[in-house]
Amino acid sequence: MSTATQIIHSIPVDPLTGAISVPIYQTSTFVQDAPGVNKGYDYARSGNPTRAALETLIAQLENGSVGLAFGSGLAAIDAVIKLLKSGDEILAVDDIYGGAFRLFTQVYEKFGITVNYADATNAENVFNALTPKTKLIWIETPTNPTLKISDIQAIAKIAKAQNCLLCVDNTFASPALQQPLSLGADIVVHSATKYLGGHSDLIAGIVVTKDPELGAKIKFYQNACGNILSPFDSWLVIRGIETLHLRIKQHCSSAQAVAEFLETHPAVDKVFYPGLKSHPNHDIAKKQSKGFGGIVSFTLKNDTEEAAISFVTNTKLFKLAESLGGIKSLLCHPANMTHKTIPATKRRAAGVADSLIRLSIGLEDAEDLINDLENTFEIIQTSKVKSKKAEYVNRQ
Ligand SMILES: Cc1ncc(COP(=O)(O)O)c(C=O)c1O
Repeated sequence: MSTATQIIHSIPVDPLTGAISVPIYQTSTFVQDAPGVNKGYDYARSGNPTRAALETLIAQLENGSVGLAFGSGLAAIDAVIKLLKSGDEILAVDDIYGGAFRLFTQVYEKFGITVNYADATNAENVFNALTPKTKLIWIETPTNPTLKISDIQAIAKIAKAQNCLLCVDNTFASPALQQPLSLGADIVVHSATKYLGGHSDLIAGIVVTKDPELGAKIKFYQNACGNILSPFDSWLVIRGIETLHLRIKQHCSSAQAVAEFLETHPAVDKVFYPGLKSHPNHDIAKKQSKGFGGIVSFTLKNDTEEAAISFVTNTKLFKLAESLGGIKSLLCHPANMTHKTIPATKRRAAGVADSLIRLSIGLEDAEDLINDLENTFEIIQTSKVKSKKAEYVNRQ
């Protein structure tokens, strides 16, 4: 059976009524026959049938045993970090998502959890950066926003040998393209706000574990700390997942066309897209995922924040916004938006140049998107329109 068929039929038909769409159980509590005697649910923070349907579905899609849904991607990341204790160390990929960097350094470091960073595109760097205190290796692949690729299988072997956990942020690939748990990772996290939801209409997070015991520990934190996903948002994520395969196919093919166009444009310096043969880890991306995703980043030959801001404020179809993975194309300037919390020297060292622009390729026609980019290059080159230098507020 193909994965698309499997996904669609993993979404249960309601056993009580036969409803083909998972019902939204909008309730805070469940009536009990006697104290502790109930129909599987007692209080909706601990468990809710709509959220449970999503959690079972995503565990299946990621080939794991336990799935858990949280109020945001960061809440999902937070629940995983709670597995650690004071004195433990995390080894994280160096161009990690800015919000995860902020959580690690501004929240968890004061509780005695130290974070070290390594360029994970070469598994040897990860091995060399481990210390006896490393308890968790944290990678994103592809990374946000430079689309770096790490070899999940090779890093999973290193994690096993060191007796530490490997967590993969699979937000950019989605399970339609890549299943880290099948490649040896222990935990997968998602900002379900992105491709899983797919319509830019919710904030949600997911954790999936391979091992049931590890999943039970994180489930304990989900209930004890209370950062759960609401029934309605759980339903929206389920509905998003129903079309995940179809959407991802289109995102990938349009992103490939856009990346190839950008590679030939004289104003562009570098293009970051794992589907390009010029990408340094194109072969690993090909080996571990079924496609290369819908995000393309590029830098300008005029490597200034001003040039990038002029570009991102002059496109018509690409809307300037945080986030990615929805049906409408978005673009952003990471140095001033998603990665603003990372110090400039550290940001540049991780490859996030001042002029780097990230595109989230939506479901519009690829040709229209390329025309929009081409027109914008013309506008900024002839300086027909002055930069509408916006004041960006870091909301993520
Ligand atoms: C790779 C990655 N992980 C996690 C997050 C955090 O997710 P959320 O915004 O749903 O909290 C983001 C958000 O942009 C992200 O890009």
